[in-house]
Amino acid sequence: MRRSSVWHPYTQMSEWDSFPNIVRGEGFWLVDSDGNKYLDGVASMWCNVWGHSKKELISTINKQSKKIIHSSLFNLTNNQAEDLAKKLVGISPGMSRVFYSDNGSTAMEIAFKAALQYWQNIGYKNKTMFATLQNGYHGDTFGTMSVGFVPVFFTKFKKNLYKSIQIPFKNSYKITNIEEYYSQTLEKIETTLAKNQNIAAFVMESGAQIAGGVNIYKDGFQSQISKICKNHDTLLILDEIATGFGRLGSLVEYTAQKSRPDIVAYGKMLTAGYLPMSATLVTKKIYDSFLGKYHQMKHLYHGHTFTGNTLACAVANQNLELYQRTNLISKVRKTAIHLEKRLKELYTIETVGDIRHKGMLAAIELVSNKAKKTPKSFAKSTNKIVFDEAKKHRIYLRTLGNIIMLVPPLAMSQKEIDFLVDGTIKTIKNISK
Ligand SMILES: Cc1ncc(COP(=O)(O)O)c(C=O)c1O
Repeated sequence: MRRSSVWHPYTQMSEWDSFPNIVRGEGFWLVDSDGNKYLDGVASMWCNVWGHSKKELISTINKQSKKIIHSSLFNLTNNQAEDLAKKLVGISPGMSRVFYSDNGSTAMEIAFKAALQYWQNIGYKNKTMFATLQNGYHGDTFGTMSVGFVPVFFTKFKKNLYKSIQIPFKNSYKITNIEEYYSQTLEKIETTLAKNQNIAAFVMESGAQIAGGVNIYKDGFQSQISKICKNHDTLLILDEIATGFGRLGSLVEYTAQKSRPDIVAYGKMLTAGYLPMSATLVTKKIYDSFLGKYHQMKHLYHGHTFTGNTLACAVANQNLELYQRTNLISKVRKTAIHLEKRLKELYTIETVGDIRHKGMLAAIELVSNKAKKTPKSFAKSTNKIVFDEAKKHRIYLRTLGNIIMLVPPLAMSQKEIDFLVDGTIKTIKNISK
């Protein structure tokens, strides 16, 4: 353990005297300076794919580092960035160009700027509004908070955010008639887009909302929204930062959802969680609108120091090759069946109100009253209580409020999944006493 001089993210620092001090990764295990090992149950914030010591990725980092670590995309290009762009376009139906940045929030900011400017480029001055579903999450910057407004995270900043249209959308756990609720939501989206000619784009997480409480969409929902957007000449921006690259069992989630975005953002698992990097992809229609004579000022005024970082692109290229070579997605689908079977055991625990699961993602909602679905609370944050207990069972867990998240690295074996679920069961039982 180590006393920390760091201000840790989303953390009430007064609850922590010290933190496990991670010094090494061994496969799916994190090793601390006291020699303790923890199985990484949250894929180091939902991004790790192969565990922490994948030799092919380490070798790519070593090899590329000897050539060049970072060269800019301002006036220059490089093979790594070019090859990756081709690969990303190749796996993303309908997409034509790639804009790189360093994290999910910036990838979404770029999506927003590209959408707003697209309309101006083609002569529409008033399309300045975003519509979205309540409880979507797109990052922690001001633009992303304005669209992905999760009240519990962002209410304190509300006065500084720009306006967006938030379509009511409840978590499936809180809905009694799912069919009816979804069809009413689709109707609301349709009437909102029909009524408001100023909407530039509809923005949503692809496949499921995650940080806003884990809400996995009903089949057909996203494809219906995609159709509604096309019918009303509204751009569709999909956020695959958390769900792309296999988290829900498909390499590109929007193809599984039978939807067609105009803009899509990838992050997290793009580099297998080894280096910070994200990508915003756009269709030819969007990209072409930015072309013109220089003095027309149609080009995109956006760029980061590390846009298209060479080392990160090299790792992402190698990562994508490994997905193909090992047929990772079909392995994920098999492991997901095993995970689902094991998760059913948790329903017998009095404090488990609901389990939402798809692919390599599970949300276990803790309640104090199953019938009333009352969220379970403790004197300290649920995260601290769960983390401290899980540590005793050699697993690393993090919660979202009263929801325990199991987000294992995609390549984790069934044996390790068993270790994770066993530890989670013991953790929940012990904290529920
Ligand atoms: C769906 C989604 N979009 C965007 C982000 C923001 O990504 P980052 O934390 O890399 O800025 C996240 C992060 O969890 C996310 O889950």
